[in-house]
Amino acid sequence: MPRPLFGYVAGAAETNASLRDNRDVFGEWAFRPRFLVDVSRRSAAVTLFGTEYATCFGIAPMGISAMMAYRGDLALTRAAAAARVPMIMSGSSLIPLEEIVRANPDAWFQAYLPGEPDRIAALVGRVADAGYRTLVLTVDTTTLGNRENNIRTGFSTPLRPSLRLAWDGAIRPTWLWDVLWRTLRQHGMPHFENSYVTRGAPIIAKDVQRDFGARDHLNWTHLAQIRRQWRGNLVVKGILTGEDAARCKEEGADGVIVSNHGGRQLDGAIAPLRAVAEVKATAGGMTVMMDGGVRRGSDVLKAIALGADFVFVGRPMLYAAAVGGEVGVRHAISILSDEVHRNLAFLGCNRIGEVGMQHLVRVAGVPTSRG
Ligand code: FNR
Repeated sequence: MPRPLFGYVAGAAETNASLRDNRDVFGEWAFRPRFLVDVSRRSAAVTLFGTEYATCFGIAPMGISAMMAYRGDLALTRAAAAARVPMIMSGSSLIPLEEIVRANPDAWFQAYLPGEPDRIAALVGRVADAGYRTLVLTVDTTTLGNRENNIRTGFSTPLRPSLRLAWDGAIRPTWLWDVLWRTLRQHGMPHFENSYVTRGAPIIAKDVQRDFGARDHLNWTHLAQIRRQWRGNLVVKGILTGEDAARCKEEGADGVIVSNHGGRQLDGAIAPLRAVAEVKATAGGMTVMMDGGVRRGSDVLKAIALGADFVFVGRPMLYAAAVGGEVGVRHAISILSDEVHRNLAFLGCNRIGEVGMQHLVRVAGVPTSRG
């Protein structure tokens, strides 16, 4: 990937404090393995909203994936369908949401919405008409995160053509040919396809920010409006406190994703692994999911032990798509899935539901690979 795109994916906000802690916190917990249990028939399968998934993690929504890998969202969603794990299609993506659900009828859709009832109703209607059954509303983008690394690496939305950008692309000929050229030739200039009911601005348009609307107006009344209209499963992503989780429950949400957006929004926001137990305690039967810093099967199981019902993985899946397309993502899923399956054995568990706090002990920060 050219430097600006890699920086956009790998980086976070301001000092990267949340990005770092998202990883480091996993080192504060050690396992208490249990032996002499017959685990020969173990399974990491989990049922979410009535659908059984092969394992207990899925793919988090990531914007403009089709700039990182050729038809990136399709590669991610096809691999997820093949592996029977959920994939959440990002609302700031460059492939129409209808195409994704055709390729994977079980894909979830993540919306970014402004506090504007008409626009909300129109997009929610479009998502329902397309056949999605699970809608994820991301709420932690009240305003744009301060991603200073984007300035350093030359990434911006809209993408501003410059000599430097041209050079950064030119020294990545595989990306230039396999991703950019193929995309332009076969599909034309990428547009934000899923911000609203109609096609949005092209990725190089000057007014692309205006197109994102008044997200800082979004409030609980809009969540209530969505709940009245949306008959499928409703998930709120970006929750980090018990108070907000309880309110989501009151408003009729079916689940929450405990997330600090991979450290890309409020720098210094609590790491999701530190918040998941509090959220679980107030979730009142909602499904509690979590993302942020999950890189190994051991991370997945620590999150589950602390209260998550399910876990999502972001950046590693996009790197896999960039390196190897759909095959690469399938491979990444199988590596992580094998790790979960193996570690389940070491914990003496046959089912994900058996993993709990009895399997963990708090330790004073064991160094974790930042990955
Ligand atoms: C994201 N994330 C994100 N979240 C969301 O709700 N909608 C989006 O469009 C995006 N876009 C996006 C792009 C890129 C490049 C990244 C890396 C992340 C956040 C994402 O869903 C998830 O919360 C984090 O990535 C999880 O952390 P890890 O697994 O990347 O550490």
